[in-house]
Amino acid sequence: MESNSPSELALFDAIFTTRAMRRLKPDPIPDDLIGKVIEAGLCAPSGGDVQHWRFIVVKDARIKLRLQVLYKRAFDDVIQRYRANPPPPGKTLAQKNRMLAAVEYLTDHFHEAPVLIVCCLLDDLSKKLGLEKMSGASVYPAVQNMLLAARALGLGATLTTRHLIYEAEVNEILQLPANAETFAIVPLGYPMGRFGPVSRTPVEEVTFLDRWGAEYR
Ligand SMILES: Cc1cc2nc3c(=O)[nH]c(=O)nc-3n(C[C@H](O)[C@H](O)[C@H](O)COP(=O)(O)O)c2cc1C
Repeated sequence: MESNSPSELALFDAIFTTRAMRRLKPDPIPDDLIGKVIEAGLCAPSGGDVQHWRFIVVKDARIKLRLQVLYKRAFDDVIQRYRANPPPPGKTLAQKNRMLAAVEYLTDHFHEAPVLIVCCLLDDLSKKLGLEKMSGASVYPAVQNMLLAARALGLGATLTTRHLIYEAEVNEILQLPANAETFAIVPLGYPMGRFGPVSRTPVEEVTFLDRWGAEYR
């Protein structure tokens, strides 16, 4: 479970230890690893196999800083609400506070990640079909594949979306065309801390048998 070696990390070990890794070293990541992470993303499904995902690998320090300024502004907008929320299911207040400290750390150091991968879609199908619930559905599976690939390579990553609070400004910084949208920014880098198991609500508490509310066992 503790191994970072790609050759040793089995799929379920990766799945069970892919957590939000928000404290990253600024050390650069080899380009072939970034390519491998994106290649894993491209193995994901997309509606009609149109593969309209696009990825912007942001390494430029000035662009990263401009994104961080907006990410921090968005944090300041929402942090009071986050603090007032109860802890996530099954988590203690202490665990929630540790998570918030990590969230704040990432916010303050967003631009220090060696790479920010901005995950985009061209002509999101959900708009064409008028199905709001499908928004981003053809890029988020790719993002999850990328998180798992990062884990297998010993890289830390987090799926973040808070930049969307300042979407228009972000689009301008990244010079997105009108038919493209961003859905996530994944800061990627070598983690400062160690990987560990994720903790989630047990299967039987979130799963029903045959109909809503019926116990699953
Ligand atoms: C839709 C979505 C949006 C998220 N946005 C952010 C974000 O903006 N910033 C952040 O630090 N984490 C973000 N996260 C990460 C979650 O907070 C994280 O997955 C959750 O707290 C569980 O953490 P764990 O995997 O380390 O247990 C997001 C996750 C999802 C699925």
